[in-house]
Amino acid sequence: MNTTPGRSTIAEAAISVRRTGPLSGQVKVPGAKNSVLKLMAASLMTDGTTHLSNVPGIVDVEIMSELLTALGMRIETLSPGVMSLTNTGAITPVAPYELVEKIRASINVLGPLLARFGHVRLALPGGDDFGARPIDMHIAGLEAMGATFKISHGDVEAFADRLHGADIAFDFPSVGATENIVMAAVLADGVTRINNAAREPEIIDLCEFLIAMGAQILGVGTARLEIIGVGRDDLRPVSHVTIPDRIQAATYMAAVAVAGGEILITDARRDHMEVVLTRFGDMGCQIDSVEGGLRVSANERLRSTDVATLPYPGIATDYKPLMITMLSVAEGVSIVTENLYPGRFRYVEELQRLGADIRTSGHHAVVRGVPRLSGAPVRAHDIRAGAAMVVAGLAAEGETTISGIHHIDRGYEDLVGRLASVGAEITRIDPG
Ligand code: UD1
Repeated sequence: MNTTPGRSTIAEAAISVRRTGPLSGQVKVPGAKNSVLKLMAASLMTDGTTHLSNVPGIVDVEIMSELLTALGMRIETLSPGVMSLTNTGAITPVAPYELVEKIRASINVLGPLLARFGHVRLALPGGDDFGARPIDMHIAGLEAMGATFKISHGDVEAFADRLHGADIAFDFPSVGATENIVMAAVLADGVTRINNAAREPEIIDLCEFLIAMGAQILGVGTARLEIIGVGRDDLRPVSHVTIPDRIQAATYMAAVAVAGGEILITDARRDHMEVVLTRFGDMGCQIDSVEGGLRVSANERLRSTDVATLPYPGIATDYKPLMITMLSVAEGVSIVTENLYPGRFRYVEELQRLGADIRTSGHHAVVRGVPRLSGAPVRAHDIRAGAAMVVAGLAAEGETTISGIHHIDRGYEDLVGRLASVGAEITRIDPG
């Protein structure tokens, strides 16, 4: 496919980016995808109108809106970034395959629907293409609370006249399973204790939202959550501001890291990014807390460092494509270890097309930094890998054209416009 703008008609949207730098200016971080999708699902738990603000303009929010609408909710965008979700109680707890297969977060309707309506049927969820993503922990947790499951023909069906509290210990702090069990436990009889719960900022955001609705949750932000069940009538709709997206914040930091310069990232929260910011610092970025956000500058070649992904507060797997991209132009050799999704190295082949020297073996990658990448056509295989390709393009001589950008649109609000506003030579090419 020839994707050079003006030379031929292209079949799908693409992003063209050229080596640019230094960057300067200011970028605002939108609300967190991985928070807002769960907040939207949680609005199923109470009748009335929930208001969410700082809602990012991304395709996954549109898909979640369609899913909730198919279930019977009424969703309106009141102004950019402000959404109302009205639940009249007339909900059909059956989630259609065409929507569920598009986003992993659709699994988050399981807990609320089961707790509220006693029955739910949904297709097994889809989402990013980086390996099998089972839901056994969601199921085992809900079974411990009295639910029964039937899985057949790609559908999961769950039943529970009334869920009851339980002591649940996770083998691994799953984000999605923690969220589902917390939501279900809010409306269960008695007390649920979750040991080894996930502690991501997005889970804290969900718990705070639920507490404002009337839920009783203790230990928020720790690995041991205690949820004291309340009645349906104890919950009421609330207005809530979604936390900023830490992965998007890191994307703009990575852009400055490879292109040089200094930008102010407004709304970025250091307290959500402590460990990853330390690692950015080790690589040679300067990150200062200022009023309203974080100022990031990078004025020399990056340095190598080893990275291992871990559940929060460790380095999130979602940062890894960005960090491997940074390390591919750093001085020295780095070892990157993926501890969450063994198959999540697919974008490495794309970076190699740009001249990166990376070898993978099992869940490790050895990255030998090269002084410069060289532009080429590459493909985005998932949301974060797509953003990493864009960042790589800023460090690559000539033009890099990224296809598969529907993945980027799923999780990034106007990545191209934001990068262009700080001086990046980047354009979106729409088919036509
Ligand atoms: C969420 C994020 C995703 C992020 C991930 C880890 C959303 C929409 N997505 O995904 O961007 O990369 O957290 O920070 O919020 N697992 C099981 N059985 C289960 C559940 C999970 O084996 O029942 C495994 C998964 O396959 C994976 C690991 O546990 O290997 C982590 O999954 P989990 O923390 O649940 O991630 P998600 O909630 O799917």
